[in-house]
Amino acid sequence: MKLFIDSADLTEIETIASWGVLAGVTTNPSLIAKVEGDEEDIYRHICGLVDGPVSAEVTTEVRDEMIEQGHRLAAIHPNIVVKIPTSPDGLQATAALAREGIKVNMTLCFTAAQALLAAASGARFVSPFVGRYDDIGNSGVEALRDTVDALMNSAYEVEVLAASIRSPVHVTEAAKMGADIATIPAKVFHQMLQHPLTTLGLQKFNEDAAARRARLAAR
Ligand code: E4P
Repeated sequence: MKLFIDSADLTEIETIASWGVLAGVTTNPSLIAKVEGDEEDIYRHICGLVDGPVSAEVTTEVRDEMIEQGHRLAAIHPNIVVKIPTSPDGLQATAALAREGIKVNMTLCFTAAQALLAAASGARFVSPFVGRYDDIGNSGVEALRDTVDALMNSAYEVEVLAASIRSPVHVTEAAKMGADIATIPAKVFHQMLQHPLTTLGLQKFNEDAAARRARLAAR
């Protein structure tokens, strides 16, 4: 499973990119709203930090406006993927953009049925939201599993991009069930790396190495 970062914060993206683990980036209008500066410049900067798909979302619910915004976003950089919400207009806009060879990530997807429609319309990525489904008392992981199962043997060239990831467990569950990608907030990347036994083990190794050096120096 490939790891994307879900962020528009350039410092966060640069930090996690420096670990050498990132294969792409997703943003959304709420993440972009937290960042100062021109939207197109932000996307250009992100594309310079990570060599992989960078999702940039439309900010309209109207088909023709989605298509127009999709053209504008796709022209920013060859790695831009146009993110479009799951809706009748979204499906139509996705089909139109896909016919032109523009990659679409269909977002705000919660069920396998929605994901099948996204794939059939030509979406290159489909984003089931895990955390937001948990938030309303459902199992986001089980809904993601349904989507992975439904699309696994389909004829569509679509990747399942697990989104709204809130914990390291969400990430490992997504990987175990065969999701293609998980898009992960910076905070969760840091949580994934931490383990008390790693910290303690390193502390002991450092102490033993220092003790050995001191012993040799005393001879
Ligand atoms: C995905 O593409 C979305 O931007 C994101 O994962 C939403 O996450 P949230 O539900 O934590 O806001």
